Amino acid sequence: MADQSLLKRAVLTGAGAYLPEQILTNEDMAKRVDTSDEWIVERTGIRQRHFAAPHETAAYMGAEAGRQALEKAGLNPESLGAIIVATSTPDQAFPATAVRIQASLGAKKAFGFDLSAACSGFIYGLSVADAMLRAGQVKSVLVIGTEVFSRLLNFEDRTTCVLFGDGAGAVLLEARDVEQGGPGLLSTHLYADGSLGDILYVDCGTHDNRKPGHLVMHGREVFRHAVNLLAGAVNDALAENKLSADDIDLLVPHQANKRIIDGVGKKLGLPAERVVITVHKHANTSAASIPLALADAIQEGRAVPGKLLLLEALGGGLTWGSALLRL
Ligand code: ACO
Repeated sequence: MADQSLLKRAVLTGAGAYLPEQILTNEDMAKRVDTSDEWIVERTGIRQRHFAAPHETAAYMGAEAGRQALEKAGLNPESLGAIIVATSTPDQAFPATAVRIQASLGAKKAFGFDLSAACSGFIYGLSVADAMLRAGQVKSVLVIGTEVFSRLLNFEDRTTCVLFGDGAGAVLLEARDVEQGGPGLLSTHLYADGSLGDILYVDCGTHDNRKPGHLVMHGREVFRHAVNLLAGAVNDALAENKLSADDIDLLVPHQANKRIIDGVGKKLGLPAERVVITVHKHANTSAASIPLALADAIQEGRAVPGKLLLLEALGGGLTWGSALLRL
């Protein structure tokens, strides 16, 4: 008979990352636009970013990160149940990047779809995967964030083109029956406010015929909303789980700007050693930034089994959200 005291949870069993080979430092950017290392570091904390080569598409990078996550978990791709890809830079409108990745991985039994929620896409993906796993629809879901924002950048707009980079990160979530206090996703909280859609968007789509599109951001406006909205999402996560900031081992935030990350960390009263920062080496990789930061923290031995992680992101939409995950 099933043990009634056990809880069905989505447990992280593997993580992976892919970064393009080409690195551009702030000095490299200063050769293309009127900017400086000093300005970029002071306003954002960014020191370098990776830019994809032509073959390093969202599907290619996502498949590499996904393959690593499966290998770490020891799961045969043929046993995978589903693939959710969070991206705003899919290879094509369709087929979905997720099914391109399914083919590349040989995950023949998996279904897959893309999810568009800009920089919050990975948190949205975790939330959907969590529901599917706890409902028993599938036993395993690969959640991938993969982006080639370099292809959306307007190199005549120095306020945005220095902020973004390319890359992919992935986690494998598997349904497990665990004891209270055991590993898994404890909660996800999602939010959106479409009335703020015009402060951060891409200026192309089927509504007009302008090609190629560019990312447009009213940075100050986004910044003004970011810290308060993120603090709200984080507090909702703590309150629902009857936890305080002291219980959090690591904050794994979306890596848009070090000043936003520091602002949220400060509101929570978290010391710097409990905040994961990768924005200096990856810049803002949108939906890929949290799984890339997570893979980095695992690689460095900071995110180990038993640790409680708080994930948060805000992006175009506006969309934002938080997730609490015990490793
Ligand atoms: N190099 C040098 N100077 C620059 C640059 C640059 N790259 N960009 C702007 N400047 C100048 C401006 O021209 C301006 O000069 P002025 O005062 O002479 O007019 C000055 O620097 C200040 O410009 P601001 O735009 O006001 O700079 P701010 O301090 O607001 O920083 C930034 C800009 C970094 C974009 C900040 O607003 C920010 O981080 N915003 C939030 C970004 C974010 O979190 N986005 C969400 C996720 S992204 C997604 O969802 C896709």
